[in-house]
Formats: sequence, structure tokens, C-alpha cells
Amino acid sequence: MIELTVNGTSHTVSSDPRRTLLDVLREDLKLTGTKYGCGEGACGACTVLLDGQPVVSCLVLIGEVQGRAVTTIEGLAAEDVLHPVQEALVAEGMQCGYCVPGMALLAAALLRQTPEPTDEEIVRWMGGSLCRCGGYRAVLRAIRRAVGPGANDEVQVK
Ligand code: FES
Repeated sequence: MIELTVNGTSHTVSSDPRRTLLDVLREDLKLTGTKYGCGEGACGACTVLLDGQPVVSCLVLIGEVQGRAVTTIEGLAAEDVLHPVQEALVAEGMQCGYCVPGMALLAAALLRQTPEPTDEEIVRWMGGSLCRCGGYRAVLRAIRRAVGPGANDEVQVK
């Protein structure tokens, strides 16, 4: 039995400790907002926050999560209010959306750590998250938008 907290709710799961956190989130807890992309830590689609830090959940074994706190895309919004990163991604109009949950969590972690990142810091931080539609410019604009009023004035990417 493995105990963990997901989006503020305590869970006890009966699982082989060698299963991935991604599998447990999707299959056992039915939190399918976390996406399976490559399964080998290369695409970022499965990104969640583990004790507040972004991790690729396809490389985290559920046995490692005992007693820890996970935030998935389902838990990023507060009540009915989207996180500013989520609002900004919607406003910028992403395409297929498959990468967006992982992108949103990664960006939220960046803004918590660095509230006003430069474009270079954004690009470096987001580098591990791939978008198969090639929507990187929209992601950059969205993160700048989420920084706050006036941030769009500084965006150089069109
Ligand atoms: Fe985990 Fe691609 S599915 S990094």
C-alpha cells in the first residue's frame, strides 16, 4: 500500500511499487489530464509537480512517491478559477492541446520560482517540454502574458 496526496486529497493505492506514477495517476486514480507521450522522459507530456517540483511522471516509480504530494493539471486551478498560466494558454490558442497539461504545470513551477522570467529563462526552463504542433511561440507568449499586466508589451516574439 502506498499513501500519497494528489491535488490535496489523500489516497492509498495498492500497487506494485515499480509501476510509474503516470500509470497510477491515469489508471488507478483516473486523472487522465496527465498525458502519456514518449514513456521515456523525453517529451514532458507527463509532467506533474512532486512536492512542488516538476517531474516527468513516466520516470517516477510509485514506490518513490510514498508520503509525498503530487499536483496534476486537475489540481492546478483554484476552485473554479484557472491558474494564470492556464488562462494565458487558452488565450493564446494552442492547437491539439496534448502537451498543454505538462506545459502548464512546468510554467506554473517556473513562475513560482521566478515570478518575472526573461524570455531566455522561459525558453531554457521549458526546453524539456515538446509540442508536436510546434506551438513554442504561443507558449512563450502565454507565459509572458501570465506574468502579469504589461508583460505583453515586452514580448518580442510574433
Ligand atoms: Fe513522460 Fe514523455 S511521457 S516524458
